[in-house]
Amino acid sequence: MRAVLSSQPIKSVLARGPLAASSSALACSSRRNLTSTVYRTQAFRPTMPAADSDAAAFGETHITKGIGRLSKHVFEDGKGTWITTDKGVKLLDMTAGIGVCNLGHCHPKVTEAAAKQCGKITHAQVNIGFSATQIELIRNLLPILPHPSLDTLFFWNSGAEAVEAAVKLARAATKKQNIIVMQGSYHGRTAATAALTRSKTIYGEGHGPLMPGVFATSFPFYAHFGLPVETDVEELVRQSLHQVRLTLQQQTAPSDTAAILIEPVIGEGGYVPAPASFLHGLREICDENNLLLICDEVQSGFGRTGTMFAVEESGVRPDVLIFAKGIANGFPLSGIASTNELMSRQKPGSMGGTYAGNAVSCAAASAVIQAFNDENILDNVAKRSDQLVSFLTSLKNDSKYGHLIEDIRGRGLMIGVQFANTPTNAASQNTSAAAASGKKVEQIAPKVVAECLKRDMLLLSTSVFDVLRFIPPLNISEDELSQACAIFKDAFEAAVKELGH
Ligand SMILES: Cc1ncc(COP(=O)(O)O)c(C=O)c1O
Repeated sequence: MRAVLSSQPIKSVLARGPLAASSSALACSSRRNLTSTVYRTQAFRPTMPAADSDAAAFGETHITKGIGRLSKHVFEDGKGTWITTDKGVKLLDMTAGIGVCNLGHCHPKVTEAAAKQCGKITHAQVNIGFSATQIELIRNLLPILPHPSLDTLFFWNSGAEAVEAAVKLARAATKKQNIIVMQGSYHGRTAATAALTRSKTIYGEGHGPLMPGVFATSFPFYAHFGLPVETDVEELVRQSLHQVRLTLQQQTAPSDTAAILIEPVIGEGGYVPAPASFLHGLREICDENNLLLICDEVQSGFGRTGTMFAVEESGVRPDVLIFAKGIANGFPLSGIASTNELMSRQKPGSMGGTYAGNAVSCAAASAVIQAFNDENILDNVAKRSDQLVSFLTSLKNDSKYGHLIEDIRGRGLMIGVQFANTPTNAASQNTSAAAASGKKVEQIAPKVVAECLKRDMLLLSTSVFDVLRFIPPLNISEDELSQACAIFKDAFEAAVKELGH
């Protein structure tokens, strides 16, 4: 076992350990003796596995059990659409780190910009002065934001922090407290954002009390209503807008409500795009009732859906836009954009944070925006999206098991596949064969994920429904996507055979 020298003051180490009682005697010892005591103190620490022990086993022991994990792979290297593990396994990545590495792992231009910044200044603290890279990033960002009124920014580190920043802004600017969220929404795992999250109970369960003042309303998704996939979307929109209006009459008065918060494409809740008519309806309701419309584009932003931001497609103007993930391709950075008028209503000092808008992350983000321009990333998103959707459609139409695919949906390279099976299938009116049988059927998505993993491909499931999500890097090649489709087909067939379909 390798001895570890403590950097802590010797007295404090002794005071905590079983040797505390003898500390006064030790205090009289020579410096040499004290050093040897530090070695002896280490013996009372938990046994440390040898440095060459299996990294995954070490991680399982020493990382919180609160983290759920798709695989036991240890990622050591990532280039483009590929990740290599510590054991030399090369994995085809259809997750992009959950929609973060939109330009693939270690995009050379982004890496170069970050490395260069590391040699200049890494921490340009925003409550002390302006950060040059942050100013430069704002210059690059303004032209690509979905509306010219979004001209003022605040940066933070994680998506959840940015959501909290949006809530703080909405509350400070409107002097009202309550927030309306969508059923199926995901906004993060902090105490405030878990309260805003309605995709699964796991994020809040056992962690309450969470932030109060949150009200959930309907989102136009057929599965939320227990209706068949063929249900007219505009009817779902009408029903959902009706529910939003009722929410404002029955649950939270407009005079108490600061904002409506929505993901323009529901992510963790099942990869369901909000129809344009729904977003327009929400805009109208917000205008009528003096509420802010906040769009959470943490997952759907930065080219993921084929436009820089998903809300662009509808033409609807958000009052606040939340972004993170893809902005810096793996460096921690998030933020909100809003109008100068709204942002001026916050008191100086009320926003900030030690690492808010880190200089290296900002330099990486500017390089990301440059790469979007130089490499025609959005063109590739359109082409690869067509390739993926036509593959999935042909699988649904032609294969022996195609009837088990209920829905293929999404935008760009944020594509979900819902299987004909729901968590409450016995009671549902779902038209799928599985549901019609009235039996409780095991979910297909987790099995397909496991089969993909056996074939060295990373793919994620999502939501309480039986859904898989494809979120590959946006610059994935045609050939790489063909390989992914072939693996998916094979894995899907193996999974449904194993489930006895
Ligand atoms: C829509 C949305 N909002 C917020 C978050 C939270 O972001 P983070 O995990 O960076 O805190 C996520 C993360 O997946 C997300 O998809």
